[in-house]
Amino acid sequence: MQLPLKNDLFLRACRGEKTERPPVWIMRQAGRYMPEYQEIRKKTSFLGLCKTPDLAAQATMLPIEMLGVDAAILFSDILIPVEAMGMELHFSEHKGPSFPHPVQGRQDVDRLLVPDPVSHTGFVAEAIREINKRLAGRVPLIGFSGAPFTLATYMVEGEISKDFSRVKQMMFSDPATLHTLLDRITETVIRYLEMQIEAGIHAYQIFDTWAGSLSPVHYRSFALPYVRRIVDSLKRYGIPSILYVNGSCSLLEDMVTAGTDVVSVDWRMSLSNVRERVPPAIAIQGNLDPVSLLGSPEILKEEARRVMEEMEGRSGYIFNLGHGILPSTPVSMAQYLVSLVQKGPDVPMPHHAGRR
Ligand code: CP3
Repeated sequence: MQLPLKNDLFLRACRGEKTERPPVWIMRQAGRYMPEYQEIRKKTSFLGLCKTPDLAAQATMLPIEMLGVDAAILFSDILIPVEAMGMELHFSEHKGPSFPHPVQGRQDVDRLLVPDPVSHTGFVAEAIREINKRLAGRVPLIGFSGAPFTLATYMVEGEISKDFSRVKQMMFSDPATLHTLLDRITETVIRYLEMQIEAGIHAYQIFDTWAGSLSPVHYRSFALPYVRRIVDSLKRYGIPSILYVNGSCSLLEDMVTAGTDVVSVDWRMSLSNVRERVPPAIAIQGNLDPVSLLGSPEILKEEARRVMEEMEGRSGYIFNLGHGILPSTPVSMAQYLVSLVQKGPDVPMPHHAGRR
């Protein structure tokens, strides 16, 4: 049972409605830039945090309490369901995520499971129920999943990659195996998101972060159809969906055909251009450069104003960054940004600028 929401700006904007002001939330809003997050993190590893519903709920609530954003996002990671598919996963402080036994060919793909989400990742559903209790209807809760292509990049590369040469090599040498892998991930993601929806999320975002590394032809073959299948399968629940792609400038018209209610774009395009290319029924989310939060408050104010002016009069707009907030961001700058969007340009500026 879902409580009626006290603040439904975000959901109204997702549905393409005109709102009094744009709702605002920040990708990676609960993270290392917050000293309070570091405190929670001291208690356990990053994966331990994701798998302990009480701690995940605490982390999710931090930006609600400290920034006053208009939506909460489940604290977790896109690689959680991949581990459940049977891949050993590590997170290290310096290198981020890694899979010591990456997918190298057909045999590795054949060994992967389509896990039952509740028995393998039930802690996520529990976290969602716990978060909704704590939110008590203050703001909606966003669930999420990685998109099949982006998850496949980690599974094949085995670690963070700059050129995605291994997954692309598979694409150019053994496309059938890559398609089988993507198919299996898609089935996993559908069940995983169904579990999140049944546990009580109000909207979901699909992160296809690395699909921007593909040519339009390969995007249409190896990324888009799988996202479309996920979105189609979940339509029956009637909750809003968001698709994020980093570097989507050359893919925007295709991206829109995935069928999500919202497209989330990075800072490399101006929103005045985006709004010309996206049909009016589809909402737009973005797109401030996350590095602008490391600069001066004067320039941040200017940048936030520019982004909002580009969307002036366009219904269905959600303010966000073009990618995740950086760990070196001063909390005061994140707070300042949220009040600029919610209350306007005259809110008090933080005294000290960046940390450097
Ligand atoms: O937005 C939120 O606040 C919710 C939590 C969230 C995290 N990861 C927490 C996290 C979300 C939505 C993600 C998604 C995610 N994870 C993506 C897609 C979005 C994007 O940024 O492109 C990707 C590619 C990942 C994989 C991942 N997880 C990487 C590459 C890394 C290491 C690099 C980094 O930024 O730390 C992580 C770790 C991670 N995920 C942390 C957090 C808070 C830091 C872990 C720590 O505490 O040490």
